[in-house]
Amino acid sequence: MRQLRTFYIRTYGCQMNELDSEVITGMLERRGLIEVDDELQADLLIFNTCSVRDLAERKVLGKLGQLHRARPDRPVIGITGCMASVKKEKLLEKFPFLDFVLGTNDIHLLSEVVTQVLQGQRVAQTAETFSHELEYDLAKRKDSIKASVSIIRGCNKHCTYCIVPYSRGKEVSRPPKEIIDECKRLVDGGYKEITLLGQNVNSYGKDADWNIHFHDLLGEIDKVVGHCRVRFLTSHPVDITENLMMAIRDLDSVCECVHFPLQAGSNRILQKMHRMYTKEEYREKVHLLKMHVPDIALGTDIIVGFPSETEEEFLETLTAMEEFAYSFGFIFAYSPRKGTPASRWVDDVPKEVKEERLHTLLSLLDQLSQKEASHLMGSTCEVLVESMSAKNEKMVKGRTRTWKQVVFKGDSSLIGTLQNVRIVGSSNQTLMGHMFHDPPL
Ligand code: 5AD
Ligand code: SF4
Repeated sequence: MRQLRTFYIRTYGCQMNELDSEVITGMLERRGLIEVDDELQADLLIFNTCSVRDLAERKVLGKLGQLHRARPDRPVIGITGCMASVKKEKLLEKFPFLDFVLGTNDIHLLSEVVTQVLQGQRVAQTAETFSHELEYDLAKRKDSIKASVSIIRGCNKHCTYCIVPYSRGKEVSRPPKEIIDECKRLVDGGYKEITLLGQNVNSYGKDADWNIHFHDLLGEIDKVVGHCRVRFLTSHPVDITENLMMAIRDLDSVCECVHFPLQAGSNRILQKMHRMYTKEEYREKVHLLKMHVPDIALGTDIIVGFPSETEEEFLETLTAMEEFAYSFGFIFAYSPRKGTPASRWVDDVPKEVKEERLHTLLSLLDQLSQKEASHLMGSTCEVLVESMSAKNEKMVKGRTRTWKQVVFKGDSSLIGTLQNVRIVGSSNQTLMGHMFHDPPL
């Protein structure tokens, strides 16, 4: 049987995929393989893919073609992740040099699949629903300060544009004890910030009979993490509860920051997207949230150019973004995903119009950031120092509890510490600060 000594892994897409790649890395290292960062040298190549937008898929397909030409020595090549779940064995048919396809819900089978490939088989494994067999504790963490912890996989929401319910399947919550134990291990291992991950964290526990809701889970996590910060991603506006808002207010570890995607500002488009809320209902949740947590930072995702979106409807999105004064946002041009309801509607907003709308919203985000920065001027923020600044070797950078990036003078001994920083300026999305010498508690 052929021997594999080294592997290369490339990750596309969201933080969930980044975490899955860390677990894959741990699984392969347990098997004795060594990670290398050169795709031209490795014996095994893994592409952990994303299907959310067309561009992400095209990048992987282009890469595969290019590597086939660059590697006549025929390494083992596998595709994992969302594109594997969606395209399944069709990928093996399309790419005769591809050895395996392993969906997001089958990653735990990786080692067996690699063995089958070494025995001469080509394998496609793509289960619809996640089982609890993935050994998260194998994750080989890339960062020594911040770590992600998966709490729920899949999504039951079925927004009409979104491939996730098809690629990741239905919601499966991870048992609370596993999550709490993992958080505790991370804190004992010196981590200073934990991000709880799920397509919709607010659905946590609904698929199980533990009678633990997301806010209860946060409460349990808060008891074991000490001064470690806790964040979470992503919240569907329909499911965010007042109990969760109060948990953000009351639990010291939980950062005052919510990723709360609006997607569109027009009720007609929201309905076509099957988002299950109107702009007015969204506004009510924002008001309630701000009432409970006045210093909350709100983030959003927006899709421009959804089928049939008119200029007026786009302008409603623009106005809504101004009104909700987002602190951060991710703006996407709509791209039809095969198999989703929206893909059956005409993709009638021209590419140039989508681009123009996208740029308009990106510049609005910049303006909102500048406004926020001017409000913060002179105030003091708690910053978790994450690394040296890439641009200046005498500066460090980190983030506030509200996820604002701050750069200030300091050396590498500060990395991993919490510092009180006075905000003295800003440039683009970054705040500039001066350190106070007493660290916060
Ligand atoms: N086209 C463009 N953006 C999309 N998103 C999801 N599906 C699509 C699509 N088909 C965006 C949504 C979601 C984010 C992760 O990606 O805004 O919140
Ligand atoms: Fe996709 Fe909607 Fe689920 Fe988010 S809530 S993953 S956008 S289906």
